[in-house]
Amino acid sequence: MALKHSAEQLFQGFSKLSRMERYQALVKMGALTEDDVRYFTSGKNLKTELAEKLVENVIGYFHLPLGVATNLKIDGKDYVIPMAVEETSIIAALSKTAKWIRRCGEIKTEIIGDTLIGQIQIAHVKNFDKLKKSILVNKSYLINLVNEGIASGLVRRGGGAKDIIIRKIKREDGQLMAVLHILVDCCDAMGANILNQICETLKLPIENCSGEKVTICILSNLNDRKLTCAKVIIKKIDPDLGRSIEEASLFAQHDPYRAATNNKGVLNGIDPILIATGNDWRAVEAGIHAYACRNGQYQSITDWRMEKQNLVGTFKAPLIVGTVGGVTQLHPTAKLCLNMLKVKHANDLSRIIAAAGLVQNLGALCALATEGVVQGHMKLHINNLTLSAGANEDEFPVLKKRLEEFLKVHKRISLSHAVELLKELRRNNLSSAKQRTAF
Ligand code: MEV
Repeated sequence: MALKHSAEQLFQGFSKLSRMERYQALVKMGALTEDDVRYFTSGKNLKTELAEKLVENVIGYFHLPLGVATNLKIDGKDYVIPMAVEETSIIAALSKTAKWIRRCGEIKTEIIGDTLIGQIQIAHVKNFDKLKKSILVNKSYLINLVNEGIASGLVRRGGGAKDIIIRKIKREDGQLMAVLHILVDCCDAMGANILNQICETLKLPIENCSGEKVTICILSNLNDRKLTCAKVIIKKIDPDLGRSIEEASLFAQHDPYRAATNNKGVLNGIDPILIATGNDWRAVEAGIHAYACRNGQYQSITDWRMEKQNLVGTFKAPLIVGTVGGVTQLHPTAKLCLNMLKVKHANDLSRIIAAAGLVQNLGALCALATEGVVQGHMKLHINNLTLSAGANEDEFPVLKKRLEEFLKVHKRISLSHAVELLKELRRNNLSSAKQRTAF
């Protein structure tokens, strides 16, 4: 569902608003309700009762800043994207790059495939061919067993177990291992619990019909049967910039050292949304990294190239998320963030996240290909440095200004500079105070 008001107008100057003004702008956009604003301002989100139910040995909450990325128009719809993240400049870079695309291009997304993978391992298979035959003969029985039992809820929602595939793996001791893949459409759930239950339900029936001993039953996070794709097109890009971005992309395709950093930049756009919406970011990270190695070498999960005058970027990877189950609806902030995105289905959420990852990557490559990341990053990082140096409320704006001037002149800045400048500021204040008392 698109936002209520003209997003273009409402996004204008968003980062300059105070927090209270931001709430009001988001209410106008239809991204937040007045109840949501009350939730944020009343501190209701700090209750530890929920934490006690979620994890063990609770001593409190660990808070991350929650911000919103603006300007994203994905598949023709405007979105305000919640991001829970501690790193300076991620939200700013995503919003800025999205603004550029909004003016000069477009973002399109799609999902290829619909099933997730549950694995059933037979560590030492006695007779692989016989096992294969028995699984083929009993396939419909096993699938029906699942769909009429544990997965009947999924079937009612249009999903359920769809197929069983058998893989043979050669062991180092010369024996064979067999791995069965149960392919399941988990609809809007991330699927971890149901997949594990399905695999465990099948353990005995598989042992009974094959005469083999099942060892491990667990989902796979390398979900290469369901891939989320995003595509960004920047029309008539400055050819020098376009070619530099293409070169940076080639670097990440061929060099795993660069690919790791490139993909970290993509995940800068992905993880904060996963966290904000209560999704399992470790599972998505594992899937993306494993998929990035599919050709035998760790590679970039994005690709940028010039097509005539246009720059075209693509992202394709498993990005399995849920809009139901887990803590997505249990954690009030996650629920609120999902409402803010106005997504009903897991696939829609996955597409938004893939788009954000690709746009974030473009922002990073663009900075690397031009002024480098230090300038922009440091400009935003100055707040952290000012605080870390120990500036009090009165000193904060003065030190911040000094650091900005220092950065402009020296093109570099660190905590020790901030500490030195603060000392200098205090010395000056002290001597002018002394002068004042002397008069
Ligand atoms: C920093 O968080 C992310 C980058 O290093 C990504 C990249 O190099 O592409 C800027």
